[in-house]
Amino acid sequence: MAIQLFRFLLQGSGTTRRHAIICGKRHFTMSMSLSKTISDATTTVRESMKSALSMGMSIGGGREKDVGTLLYQDLVPWNNTGNKETHEFLQRLVLILLDFIDKTNDRNEKVLDFHHPDQLLEVMDMTLPDDPQNLDQLLTDCKDALKYQVKTGHPHFYNQLSCGLDTISMAGEWLIATANTNMFTYEIAPVFILMENFVLKKMREIIGFPNGDSILAPGGTISNLYAIITARHKKFPRYKTDGLRALDSEICMFTSEHCHYSIKSAAMVTGLGTDNCISVPADSKGRMIPSELERLVLQAKGKGKIPYFVNCTSGTTVFGAFDPINEIADICEKYNLWLHIDGAWGGSVLLSKKYRLPRFAGVEREVITRQNIH
Ligand SMILES: Cc1ncc(COP(=O)(O)O)c(C=O)c1O
Repeated sequence: MAIQLFRFLLQGSGTTRRHAIICGKRHFTMSMSLSKTISDATTTVRESMKSALSMGMSIGGGREKDVGTLLYQDLVPWNNTGNKETHEFLQRLVLILLDFIDKTNDRNEKVLDFHHPDQLLEVMDMTLPDDPQNLDQLLTDCKDALKYQVKTGHPHFYNQLSCGLDTISMAGEWLIATANTNMFTYEIAPVFILMENFVLKKMREIIGFPNGDSILAPGGTISNLYAIITARHKKFPRYKTDGLRALDSEICMFTSEHCHYSIKSAAMVTGLGTDNCISVPADSKGRMIPSELERLVLQAKGKGKIPYFVNCTSGTTVFGAFDPINEIADICEKYNLWLHIDGAWGGSVLLSKKYRLPRFAGVEREVITRQNIH
């Protein structure tokens, strides 16, 4: 949850804003040229870290025992005098991570140093030893884990769903891992809880909802499941206590034939049954055909079923098609159906002045709507 929140925050629109979030209020107006100065300084620090480490010295100066020979219990919190060693270990790790980032952004590097599983097992020992390994071994394992990893941020990586390595988001993930907290209550995560409220309020404003409430979800599949359950609860509040007995008849839902398969899975796990998740034909561009939706709603009613939910996909998984929200919302209003928008693929288009319309025309309408954006 916390990681998601930070991704959201740190993937803000402008460079200045991103840096402001990372560095705090004082740097809110940090300019590009200041960023450059910081980046030059970072390079210098990195060079001196490298040479100090290669000479077996601690960062603070002075020749010391090589941390590589130490074990995890020599670091804090196990050894409360181990701050220096802990810093040095982490700085070595950071160098490995920075090296991976450099390679990721280098067009001359391979996207993947591919090995078949048996070859990979020859160069990496995956067995879990009973005894603790020294820090050198841990660092070697980290290096190897990245060496044989796909560089999903590489300019020549063209596989689906990955879109580069966003440095600021990654920095946010480092920060979140270091904070190592959860989002249960304000007491355990005061800053992140407030941030969550601000982020979600801003998202609602971007969508065009003046009021409302929101939660962060760990992905599109679970967001779709939440929506289907929430809609059922709205229409049949007694379902919570009475279960299936709360339903007067079979209930059914509608979605485009190009929707993500998580919609059908949700119909299965919520007890509707996949036959009650009715596929609506799409046009040649992959968009749901509203007149077909209406026809199928009437057909289901004619069979004694209770239509209650329509999923509108904004960005279908394969075609990237956007179902027409306004026309679908009209039908939802007419037949009192819950309208859910699955924006897992295309929801970020809401942030674009250029592409938002016509794809999201109608998104702000006062129909019962839920968004799921990732
Ligand atoms: C349109 C759509 N909905 C839902 C999902 C599922 O999202 P997740 O993989 O985060 O569960 C995807 C995934 O690609 C998707 O494209």
